[in-house]
Amino acid sequence: MTGLLLPMPRTATVSARNREVSRDLLVVVLATGLTFVICVAFELREWLTEITRPLEQYQIDELPFTLGALALLLAWFSWRRWRQAAQELHLRVEAQQALMDNEARYRLLFMENLAGNALCAADGTMLLGNPAIAHILGLPGTQAATGRNLFDFYADRAVADEHRALLSHGSKVDVALLDLVAADGSAVKVIARMLVRDEPTTGAAFHVYVADISELQLMQRELADALAENRLLSQKYLLAQEEERRHLARELHDEMGQCLNAIKLDAVAIHRHPSELPRDVLESAQSIMEVSTRVYDVARGLMERLRPVALDELGLADALRHLSTEWRRRNPGVDCSLSIEGDLEGLGEQTNITLYRVVQECLTNIARHARASAVRLHLERAVDHGDLMLRIADDGVGIEPVRKKRGGLGLAGLRERVEALGGRLEVISCVPHGVEVRASIPAVGGRP
Ligand SMILES: Nc1ncnc2c1ncn2[C@@H]1O[C@H](COP(=O)(O)OP(=O)(O)O)[C@@H](O)[C@H]1O
Ligand SMILES: [Mg+2]
Repeated sequence: MTGLLLPMPRTATVSARNREVSRDLLVVVLATGLTFVICVAFELREWLTEITRPLEQYQIDELPFTLGALALLLAWFSWRRWRQAAQELHLRVEAQQALMDNEARYRLLFMENLAGNALCAADGTMLLGNPAIAHILGLPGTQAATGRNLFDFYADRAVADEHRALLSHGSKVDVALLDLVAADGSAVKVIARMLVRDEPTTGAAFHVYVADISELQLMQRELADALAENRLLSQKYLLAQEEERRHLARELHDEMGQCLNAIKLDAVAIHRHPSELPRDVLESAQSIMEVSTRVYDVARGLMERLRPVALDELGLADALRHLSTEWRRRNPGVDCSLSIEGDLEGLGEQTNITLYRVVQECLTNIARHARASAVRLHLERAVDHGDLMLRIADDGVGIEPVRKKRGGLGLAGLRERVEALGGRLEVISCVPHGVEVRASIPAVGGRP
């Protein structure tokens, strides 16, 4: 770095000045002594009285005392000026020291900065750079950076021209992502800021700050890839889960349902002959009929939870209407309304089942936890871009923050389902004003 002041030993300067003053005082004392000796030796005052006798009327013989007083006053005057000068010197030395301390600090900040810093001329020639900018540009050191043109390291000429033009008009340049090519040909991604400076003494036209974000970019890309992969895996897992559930529901319906029906029919057949059979056999047949009916109801409930038949048979809108009607029947004290806007045709299996499961789980949560008196379900498909927005709001007790943090599997599972479709699930709760669950799912575009 050029133009730096050399450190000045402050105490050494002060003591050198003090030595000089003492020497000068000694010269004054010696010169006075010598004058006295000469005056005594040649009897100069008598000589002066003799030669000024004709001019007695002008009182010239009184001059020596006046001159003596003048000498004393001059000595006092010099002493006062000297003290003033010493104080000024002291202040100047202190100011210079503070300046040097500051400069050392700024120099450290500049040189040790992890971000690249450079002062450039109007055409982009670097006049002064720190080690970080040399490193970012793949140059061996700051000396190598000096004299090189910053815009030569741009990957895109057009961008370089654009920045040059902006700076020449006095505008600031702020770039979140700038592609550079280092001296060894490797690609470097930086975040950059260029500020116009008018420094006629150094010829600097702008100051550039750059921070290397190549690794950050790489990590971001890897993270985005991992996220996309995760989403895909989640989608596949959920699809497989739904397929398995559908299979189980079919098995329950086809196998268990048939067997239960057969058992019930046998019991009915036995019960048809009351006169030929003992009483306890008839009672057992009656009990078998009742139990098999109950088991069949339980199995039907299970089938419904495993695979909403209505969804396959009626489509999403009617399946949701069916779900809310059933829920209303089971929770007669709650005012539940459902409104659907937009065309829900052709949404795709995965979107349909996700929306259905969100409504199903939320209604279950409301019945189990909310103690609500009203529930509003609203599903909307935007006409222009096709995005879906589902809102389920209740006026119950709300979710306490502790519970929200701890969370259950229900809401977490819903979030996973919605995010697997690239959507977002929000649970907004203000105790005691109920809960609103919002699921937004982007346009489907041929999803299965
Ligand atoms: N509508 C709601 N009203 C009040 N509390 C709710 C509501 N929905 C969820 N919660 C609370 O959030 C918790 C987490 O819900 P969830 O993830 O579905 O788990 P689970 O229902 O199995 O407990 C619940 O235990 C409950 O305390
Ligand atoms: Mg739940």
